[in-house]
Amino acid sequence: MKIFHISAECYPIAKVGGLADVVGSLPKYQNKKGAISQVIMPFYNNSFNTKNKFLTVYASKLELGTTSFNFRILKLDKRNVGFDLFAVDIPELLFDNYVYSEDDTERFLAFQIAVLNWMLTWKEKPSILHCHDHHTGLMPFMMTQCYNYEILSNIPTVLTIHNAQYQGWFSHDKVDLIPKFNFDNVGLLDWNGSINPLAAAIKCAWRVTTVSPSYMEELKDSANGLENLLRSERAKCFGILNGIDLDVWNPETDTYIEKKYKISSVQSGRKGNKKWLCTKFNLDIEKPLFAFIGRLVGEKGADLFPELFKTVLQKNNISILLLGSGNKETEHELNKLKEQFKGSYNAFIGYDEKLSHIIYAGADFLLMPSRVEPCGLNQLYALRYGTIPIVRSIGGLKDTVIDISEENGFGICHKNTSVDDMAKAIERGNNLFNSQLQFKKIRKQIMKIDHSWDASAETYINLYKSLKS
Ligand code: ADP
Ligand code: GLC
Repeated sequence: MKIFHISAECYPIAKVGGLADVVGSLPKYQNKKGAISQVIMPFYNNSFNTKNKFLTVYASKLELGTTSFNFRILKLDKRNVGFDLFAVDIPELLFDNYVYSEDDTERFLAFQIAVLNWMLTWKEKPSILHCHDHHTGLMPFMMTQCYNYEILSNIPTVLTIHNAQYQGWFSHDKVDLIPKFNFDNVGLLDWNGSINPLAAAIKCAWRVTTVSPSYMEELKDSANGLENLLRSERAKCFGILNGIDLDVWNPETDTYIEKKYKISSVQSGRKGNKKWLCTKFNLDIEKPLFAFIGRLVGEKGADLFPELFKTVLQKNNISILLLGSGNKETEHELNKLKEQFKGSYNAFIGYDEKLSHIIYAGADFLLMPSRVEPCGLNQLYALRYGTIPIVRSIGGLKDTVIDISEENGFGICHKNTSVDDMAKAIERGNNLFNSQLQFKKIRKQIMKIDHSWDASAETYINLYKSLKS
């Protein structure tokens, strides 16, 4: 079985968030199960790409409306990422040193057209084309509707929705950028008066998956306008929980962290990492350390952090450390708090892969008060490293974290993304920290939970097998 994943991000080549982690690991686990799983993404002008050697495997031109662009398909000249990695280079459209910008319509449309044009030349077609998010959402439409791609129309397509908030909308004025198709079917592209690549993919893909079962259910009530569409297409929609890459996320072998450890050495190992964090960020190692890692956006509840942190730091003897970037106003307010709570609060505004690993290995609790969380990988990494997650019960967080008040519970769950609920959850964490016996027991318990890709990679393969072209 030959699976071709199409994505805007893929770890370690280009990462903005969890999409990269998933596309950088699921194919590897599918290959371990005997499939041939490959990835294609845009070629960005970033440090991975300039440091690594790529070979040109195909070169041609593509048409975007009336403009013609040269493109090349490059292949990473080594397979140490665990799968064959291809990249589409379209120099004139400047796949610069960024993944997303304000308007990516032309960039991602050209990327998708280049992939399809290349596929037309293949002798052996893939068994499955697996699209990820709206950036690749026009492929199922183009394969079934555009005259150029008729010979690709019987290749089964799967769309995975990692985040339905972003849909890639653009105006019908740009419809001519899409290769010619029977205009009677233009409705397949449309949702509420715009061309909507995510909606088009939900309509045209053979199967649709989301990254956790609960998120699939939640989307039927709240999907940024696509609720009715998801309800009507529910027969082909499935929730499959993400896994994690144990080659990357393993405290025993992680080269980013200060002190490696396993379950039997968790106490000293985590202390070494916490010490490093506390020294670097001027925090007291004796106090429980609550951390957040992620995008500072409304979906993650980040707008409430300034008020929340003020409230809990005034009332409790705890420390807070934040790593993230996003909304400029939130960033500014979070920076301002540093002065007021010197010694018990600090923040690194930016993106730092190494620091994120040390935080998973050294903080006592990880905060995830998300308003929306399709799966969430941070809580899975936290569990693997023995950091207790404090989460709002929503989406993938609901599917992966059980509150300590329940049988075999190991995390702290709250109902709403509100300062009040979040503050109470942090207080519960503080109390748990003060019951050191229970705290240490849970720490070992969570490190044993298996969230590797093994089970879910198999579920995807079974889904593909059910699709015969
Ligand atoms: P999302 O994809 O919605 O941002 P996920 O929980 O699925 O959320 O994945 C986020 C990924 O990005 C994790 O690997 C997390 O460690 C990483 N990450 C997020 N923000 C940062 C940051 N500022 N620095 C380093 N890593 C980050
Ligand atoms: C998205 C979601 C996140 C999920 C990730 C990987 O970015 O916001 O919840 O874990 O994709 O599927």
